[in-house]
Amino acid sequence: MMINKRLIGTVNESKKYIAGNVICQWVSLAANITMMGAIARMLQSLFAGSAGDGQIALTAVIAAAAVVIRFVCNILSARMGYLSSKAVKKTLREMIYRKLLRLGTSYKEQANTSEVVQVAVEGVDQLETYFGAYLPQFFYAILAPLTLFVVLSFVNFPSAIVLLVCVPLIPVTIIMVQRWAKKLLAKYWGQYTALGDTFLENLQGLTTTKIYQADDFKHKEMNEQSEHFRRITMKVLTMQLNSITIMDLIAYGGAALGVILATTQFRSGHVDLAGCILIILLAADFFLPMRMLGSFFHIAMNGMAASDKIFRLLDLPEPEQKAETVPENCAIECKGLRFSYDADREILHSVDMVFPKGSFTAIVGESGCGKSTIAAILMGRNKGYTGSITVGGTPLSEISEESLMENFTYISHQSYLFKGTVRDNLLMARASAGEDTLWQVLERVNLADFLRSEKGLDTMLNEKASNLSGGQCQRLALARALLHDSPVYIFDEATSNIDVESENDIMAQIHKLAETKTVILISHRLANVAGADTIYVLDKGNIVESGSHCQLLAANRAYAKLWNAQQELESYNHRVIANQSADWCGDPLCQAGDCTTGIPFGHHVADAPRNDSKDGGAAK
Ligand SMILES: Nc1ncnc2c1ncn2[C@@H]1O[C@H](COP(=O)(O)OP(=O)(O)OP(=O)(O)O)[C@@H](O)[C@H]1O
Ligand SMILES: [Mg+2]
Repeated sequence: MMINKRLIGTVNESKKYIAGNVICQWVSLAANITMMGAIARMLQSLFAGSAGDGQIALTAVIAAAAVVIRFVCNILSARMGYLSSKAVKKTLREMIYRKLLRLGTSYKEQANTSEVVQVAVEGVDQLETYFGAYLPQFFYAILAPLTLFVVLSFVNFPSAIVLLVCVPLIPVTIIMVQRWAKKLLAKYWGQYTALGDTFLENLQGLTTTKIYQADDFKHKEMNEQSEHFRRITMKVLTMQLNSITIMDLIAYGGAALGVILATTQFRSGHVDLAGCILIILLAADFFLPMRMLGSFFHIAMNGMAASDKIFRLLDLPEPEQKAETVPENCAIECKGLRFSYDADREILHSVDMVFPKGSFTAIVGESGCGKSTIAAILMGRNKGYTGSITVGGTPLSEISEESLMENFTYISHQSYLFKGTVRDNLLMARASAGEDTLWQVLERVNLADFLRSEKGLDTMLNEKASNLSGGQCQRLALARALLHDSPVYIFDEATSNIDVESENDIMAQIHKLAETKTVILISHRLANVAGADTIYVLDKGNIVESGSHCQLLAANRAYAKLWNAQQELESYNHRVIANQSADWCGDPLCQAGDCTTGIPFGHHVADAPRNDSKDGGAAK
């Protein structure tokens, strides 16, 4: 019951601590029995009036020694519990960590990050009590009544057997209670996580909630959920209290039974006074270990649930370790590439693409057509594809992750910047890079001036670089990528959601990079891809067209339509701006209707000296 052999086997080191813990407790019990025996004998002698000073002194010495032994044993047993918890935490966290490394970047296909974090942190913590307290108690709770039975059977067999037989009533009730409690606990956890989810979501969306003044509604929603949770918590507590009461009834009822039996046996002359007293003194000890085990039981249940989750993670199938490296000629070729996240919906339908070495290739298409999916497949994050992908003739699936990461650099619109200095963030791309090289790449992405005005390479970044603007973040991410200096670069909407100036800086660098490297550029803005050697047009997971910008325009199909639509939209924006300028040129100084500058709004603003640039300030 509640003993998971695999779990214990996994943390082999803990076995000796568990054994040590049980031995300590057992020695403590033996000391207790000896002390009680001595006391019982002394009481009998006192009663008979035959107790001498020697016996009283001896009893006192035995009692003192027993107390010391018990004290030491308690400390040792707590220490063993700690050591086995420590071993468990270390071993399991190490195993989870190694497993994740072996799963590699594609772990997300099989487990979600929050679950991994929960299992590795909370899950392992729950096992701490399982190993440190529950398991030793489990063995001790079996050993203690048996030991007492053996000792007391010499004193008075009927009392000993009755006491022994009553002990299993405790686990039996626990099992019965737990069976009923399982449903309740499942409901409780459901409510608990639901409340947690709502709370987190409301906290994260607080600004939005305020904007739409929906806080009253959210408030009520939270209150309702909290009330549900309060009720179910109370139910669980009631259940636990009740089960404790039942266990207490059995434990102390059993002990009382032992006392009654001992006295009747004494009256009928089957046991002497010392024996009777000993049974009375030790009767409760039969039940206390089991009763303690019962109180650890719910912890053990949590531990079991946690270990199931841990093993699920540890049992995930691993990609086999691959030995191939990316060849010198890193031309990429996809043939008949098919991919689906969920079995019933195919995302890519037999896609053929080539990315020759040193070429500049773009992939365009509507949102959701599968562009990022292709990038993720090339980066080895999505693995379950069919068809073939080769890099310089070597199948992608046989290239080791290390070599792939060394040769392919992926930059998305949300590249992760770490808390720490700009230098730290850059050096992760090339640890050996010198100061000059770092400034060079910062210069290339137009970030050097800004950083010089701050603390240079030592400028601190907050988590996710929240103290930089979106454009600055993206430029820093690009600088890091440039530093990586790999033969292949994949840009996935690297310029979405940022200012025009940053976008232009970044696009200029990408074009420059494309002169020497293999560049794959994913962008929804066709103006950015017009310079590519080849443009693939993806539509709902199919390549519908490919060629250079001019060829595609001449073909006058999907790409040309998309291009014309985007051109039209941009000129429409210009027209709207121009119309607005007829009424108001954007200058707060001139009144509506009598604007005399005659400069369209857009140009007016664009041509105006920028306050934040040094030249602009000087010109003013
Ligand atoms: N992790 C995922 N699990 C299940 N489906 C997914 C997952 N990621 C993407 N999809 C689905 O795959 C399809 C293609 O997504 P993908 O991200 O490749 O599109 P995209 O072309 O990059 O779009 P966008 O231009 O908006 O970035 C979408 O229909 C999306 O719903
Ligand atoms: Mg995408």
